[in-house]
Amino acid sequence: TRVRSSAASDVYKRQEDAMPVIFHEETKQFHLFNREVSYIIRIMENGQMENLYYGKALRDREDFSRFHEELERSQMSVCVPEPGLLSMHYTRQEYPVYGTGDYKTPALCIRQEDGSRITDFVYKSYEIRKGKPSLAPLPATYTEDEEEADTLEITLHDERIDTDLVLSYTIYRDYPVITRNTRFLQKGPQTIVLEKAMSACVEFLDMKFEMVQLSGAWARERYVKTRPLEMGIQSVYGLDGTCSGAEHNPFMALKRPEAGEDNGEVYGFSFVYSGNFLIQTEVSTFDMTRVMVGIHPESFSWTLREGESFQTPETVMVYSDQGLNKMSQVYHRLYRKRLMRGVWRDQARPILLNNWEATYFDFNEEKILKIARKAKEAGVELFVLDDGWFGARNDDYRGLGDWYANLEKLPEGISGLSRKIEDMGLKFGLWVELEMVNKDSDLYRQHPDWLIGAPGRFESHARHQHVLDFSRKEVVDHIYEMIAKIIRESSISYIKWDMNRYMTEPCSLTAEPARQGETMHRYMLGVYDLYTRLTTEFPEILFESCASGGARFDPGMLYFAPQTWTSDDTDANERTKIQYGTSYIYPIVSMGSHVSAVPNHQVFRKTPIETRANIAYFGTFGYELDLNLLSDQEMEEVKRQVAFMKKYRELIQIDGDFYRIQSPFEGNETAWQVVSQDKKESIAMFYQKMNKVNASWLRLKLKGLKEDALYQVSLEGAPQKDYKAYGDELMYAGIPVDRTELNRRGGDFASLLYVLKEIEK
Ligand code: GLA
Repeated sequence: TRVRSSAASDVYKRQEDAMPVIFHEETKQFHLFNREVSYIIRIMENGQMENLYYGKALRDREDFSRFHEELERSQMSVCVPEPGLLSMHYTRQEYPVYGTGDYKTPALCIRQEDGSRITDFVYKSYEIRKGKPSLAPLPATYTEDEEEADTLEITLHDERIDTDLVLSYTIYRDYPVITRNTRFLQKGPQTIVLEKAMSACVEFLDMKFEMVQLSGAWARERYVKTRPLEMGIQSVYGLDGTCSGAEHNPFMALKRPEAGEDNGEVYGFSFVYSGNFLIQTEVSTFDMTRVMVGIHPESFSWTLREGESFQTPETVMVYSDQGLNKMSQVYHRLYRKRLMRGVWRDQARPILLNNWEATYFDFNEEKILKIARKAKEAGVELFVLDDGWFGARNDDYRGLGDWYANLEKLPEGISGLSRKIEDMGLKFGLWVELEMVNKDSDLYRQHPDWLIGAPGRFESHARHQHVLDFSRKEVVDHIYEMIAKIIRESSISYIKWDMNRYMTEPCSLTAEPARQGETMHRYMLGVYDLYTRLTTEFPEILFESCASGGARFDPGMLYFAPQTWTSDDTDANERTKIQYGTSYIYPIVSMGSHVSAVPNHQVFRKTPIETRANIAYFGTFGYELDLNLLSDQEMEEVKRQVAFMKKYRELIQIDGDFYRIQSPFEGNETAWQVVSQDKKESIAMFYQKMNKVNASWLRLKLKGLKEDALYQVSLEGAPQKDYKAYGDELMYAGIPVDRTELNRRGGDFASLLYVLKEIEK
């Protein structure tokens, strides 16, 4: 990780004046490159686009056509007149369409008026521009200065149906990142139906990869799973309509079998979308690997009439030749700086206390104020009132949709309560679940036809609630007005936007029959619209997204809400896995992470209060319990923790690079670390699940430090054990893990936190 390849920087030097996107007219080749990555495509004889190379930066040349190979083969369908040999099945296509001589699954399928699904999109024109156009209303990465990136747009055209297809690529100058999306414009008079329209396709020449995915379920979200590629199809996907899902995250990486955290080639694919998705690899029997990313075609179709257009969501591709950790660091930086937006983007986050696990639905104003007062005493900055404050919401059978305060619980409403909390010197935050309704609610009684559901069919329920039809503007308008009124009347600094069920019977009661296939995507556009309106009217509010914990932890959400509740599982041991997996792609500052009570409410485990904080520090940090129930000694510990986080949150959340050191998926220990940009400061966390008696020695080998810098190494809670060491010693020999300290801290589930500071030699 320390040595930048001289070849790569050499390339960059030679091409300093060059644009990161070059078109070679003669050879009809486009080269997108920066100092780390190259992406080379060309226009083929049949007018379609081919991928010649994607990987580590190459010196630019006029001609890379040697990477297009042809051979006469049995069973080969040729798509150019004889004696040509161009065959799509053996060609790495940029955007394969249905029904050609390529027998693999396509990126595009269009049903036409005559019933045909055969298309022929051929090259028409290209445009290279500085910066990156917005995809609004869809979320996407962006540039602040147009020098940060270049965008290549290639327009292909199908004459028979008179349709334009635009392949859009952006390459960032300072990141090994290429983003992709696709746009359709129906110019002709015929009505066409997009049955499948993926955002991106990339083909690799070989199949020597392992597929890394983040999969799980409620309370065990984003576990790291790795499998070798095999011939045939392997995929991750979401089909639940309302969210990217706890099951599979919209992310996949292909890594070389020998690649590890710090070495080897890795290609990351991340989808900036919160609804149904498909990320698929298909390996042909000729060992070629096709990756496709986009909206899941199973639940999608989109009608385009004359003059109408369709924009697919963005795929963000990261290339790393220094392993998974480098890939993660690139995603972290890019998403923190050029996906998240608003006043909170560059700010360390407030330390909050949320009352959910402290009270569940059982509270009144007095109880809430008591909890808040104690939080204030501990140094907490933000109090969050969770579910149960509105309508008849005394349990989860009723109330969703009635976004006005329950005056029996809160006699002075949210406006009164929020002001009392503010008078204590705390900020006030509120939980909402705006996309949902209980049948036992005034909203449902007034608008029983606002649910998602199919006419004459049973409406499946989940947690006694139903999904509002956000594909309809009047529904979004109504909810917006209701919630905006509360915010306007009160003093609200933070909103936790929850979403606690998946979509079933995905039909909109008012959609035109030909457009029913659009419902799930239109629903997501409705959610994004509501987010856009609320973040525009209330730009100072910090939004945290949530979906039964971490079922909607995706880049689409981070564009609107710069933090996400990582999981309903707040047990420290479980959190090591959840946060470790999440860190593959999502920045530390985006991970909602709290200290909760013991025995833990999800797994009934008792872990030391110190460990609970040591894990939760690597996130937004807060508490999910009633501090009144702690002993005086524990309360002192909480005060220490809050002070620690205030001191170091800038480093952990904003400035630092995150390094994974030891994986909880591989053994008894977990370790990770943050290092400041200037490498002068670092915090490392070591955790052991089970204690061992008469155990072997362990070393915690740090990363990312300066070899020749002298650091002061301080173990939190044991100042007498401070020592000094050079970076090389800390990285290559490591810190001897102090068994005595682990025993002193309870043995099982014990953790150690080291703070490092560079000092004068
Ligand atoms: C979801 C969230 C929890 C909490 C409850 C309230 O499960 O993930 O944090 O807000 O809803 O009902």
